[in-house]
Amino acid sequence: MNQKKVLFTIFGATGDLAQRKLYPSLFRLYRTGSLAESFAVIGTARRPWTDETYRDIVKETIAYLNPTEQEAVEFASHFYYQAHDVNDTHHYDTLKILANKLDEQYQLEGNLLFYLAMSPNFFGTIVSHLESQGMLSSDGYHRVIIEKPFGTDFETANKLNDEITSVFSENEIYRIDHYLGKEMIQNISAIRFANNIFESMWNNRYIDNIQITIAENLGVEDRGGYYDKSGALKDMVQNHILQVLSLLAMEPPVAFSEKEIRAEKIKALEAVRIYTPEEVKENFVRGQYDTGLLNQESYTGYRQEPGVDEESETETFVAGKFTIDNFRWSGVPFYVRTGKRLTEKGTRINIVFKQVPINLFKSEVGKKCEQPTLEPNILTIYIQPTEGFSLSLNGKEVGPSFDMLPIQMAYRNSTETMENTPEAYEKLLLDALNGDGTNFTHWHEVAQSWRIVDVIRQTWDENTPEFPNYPAGSMGPDAAFELLKKDGFKWIWTP
Ligand code: BG6
Repeated sequence: MNQKKVLFTIFGATGDLAQRKLYPSLFRLYRTGSLAESFAVIGTARRPWTDETYRDIVKETIAYLNPTEQEAVEFASHFYYQAHDVNDTHHYDTLKILANKLDEQYQLEGNLLFYLAMSPNFFGTIVSHLESQGMLSSDGYHRVIIEKPFGTDFETANKLNDEITSVFSENEIYRIDHYLGKEMIQNISAIRFANNIFESMWNNRYIDNIQITIAENLGVEDRGGYYDKSGALKDMVQNHILQVLSLLAMEPPVAFSEKEIRAEKIKALEAVRIYTPEEVKENFVRGQYDTGLLNQESYTGYRQEPGVDEESETETFVAGKFTIDNFRWSGVPFYVRTGKRLTEKGTRINIVFKQVPINLFKSEVGKKCEQPTLEPNILTIYIQPTEGFSLSLNGKEVGPSFDMLPIQMAYRNSTETMENTPEAYEKLLLDALNGDGTNFTHWHEVAQSWRIVDVIRQTWDENTPEFPNYPAGSMGPDAAFELLKKDGFKWIWTP
């Protein structure tokens, strides 16, 4: 095992993300040996914690992974806490002294990985101080991992990017989209580029439409304050959905490398049509959940959630049709939908293939089948909570008639395999340690994604929506179903 020598400095160390995702992921990397003796973590935030408090918290966050007492203590001993006000220049000097000390103590060879897991308002201030206070003057590498949201529209994202790139170069910046660390999202490329039956048909001659659904049954939980300013379009479509779309739509890369994959994803996003306001109205719908009943439990409406304005016009649901104007995809709608408080949690991709040119079996003569149309072949990629694929085919029903029967060939990863699969954050942290940016978003991807969603946002902001418009526990407003119906399609997944 290639053991990494590195000093992590986590800004936002007391926060929810650090506790839920980062510490357990670091622990997993420790357990598998990627991190061993030569690593240290400085956690920073405003609260006046001691190293002991910090280590106790770290131990609590990994308790569910059942470490032995000795393992937990040894792991936590690598963690150091430094109270820090990101606006106070002097605090960076203190941080630097600690960083230098740990570098020597753990033999880290000057490798520095900064993790910005706090409000994006501070990203610019932090990186400029890292430079001005000489924190990037060590011999090793200097990398920065940045949590979403990367800006709130193209303009703010651009400004943020300018601030960061004045200190770090693009190949030192790791913009997180945790969907890119998910096993089955990474599998999209395997399905496409390792199976000739699919790659040869992956175009507008054979594919009718593609559907991406990211459904959540949870509401906004305790994130009402953030979410009410963001909404589903910025929270999910600008990042996760467009990233998934780019992996499905990109041309085969010349090599399976960071440079080539990113180049193809960027080209795919650049081919997504930026709609006019008229096209937005035609192709995108929004929703907000009302009170509702799910599994005999009643849920409050979005406007009654804590931290949410009681007259909020924020959307908790989006469905839309993206159009990709290139040779491969011209004429193939990419339908997307995502929302909170839907019927169940599930992320799925459905690739719906075109019908055979003639349905030979529809004739009513003799022993032919009575069905007027055949079911389409569908390749489904199950991202979560189950992971796997299925392919639906038409076969002949056993017996004297010639009725067609849709049959499904399905594969699912076993529970055991899933339990042993590295978590998205663990994989992404390891990638960043390896200097591999393939599964992080390049600035050009972020920029283009904002251009695509900005016009949707602006068009929506000009009209008052009729919210709430779907009950908690449903699959969104009726308009989301109409959207496909008017094109002669339907959502394949209807839980
Ligand atoms: C986050 C969003 O990026 O993704 C959340 O901010 C959302 O609102 C989450 O719940 C969904 O992630 P996952 O991995 O549970 O599908």
